Amino acid sequence: MNAEFYAEIASQLRGLLAGEPDFIANAANFAALLFHALPDLNWAGFYLYKDGELVLGPFQGQPACVRIALGKGVCGTAAERRETVLVENVHEFPGHIACDSASNSELVVPLLKDDQLLGVLDLDSPRIARFDATDAAGLNELAAIFLAHCNAGS
Ligand code: SME
Repeated sequence: MNAEFYAEIASQLRGLLAGEPDFIANAANFAALLFHALPDLNWAGFYLYKDGELVLGPFQGQPACVRIALGKGVCGTAAERRETVLVENVHEFPGHIACDSASNSELVVPLLKDDQLLGVLDLDSPRIARFDATDAAGLNELAAIFLAHCNAGS
């Protein structure tokens, strides 16, 4: 998806979040917006950082594994490194956690506020190499908009 597409999604996200500071409510609407607006996704949602591990948060898609240790899978790797991780083929990623066997590529964006890890935003696709650098930049921008609107971790 190109930058113009993400600018349009950013505008829709700002509209959804306007006037609402609740983290879980906003995360739920953000996940639903992404799942329905981005083509070729089978999962979009959050893992939240609690007591030293990632715990499943609001999402759209098939039921998923509930707890992921830091450093494990794509989500735990992004959380530990505090860096966006883009995986063209999850079957080639050491330690990938297969929650949905339909997933073939994945993009995970860490959620950081005031240097604190709040969790990760995770997108899965059945299409190999579904995500590129423009998607990574777009999702980072959307995550920043989301975090700016929310009470941290509440
Ligand atoms: N595949 C992820 C686990 C979460 S599911 O994709 C929803 C991982 O390897 O961290």
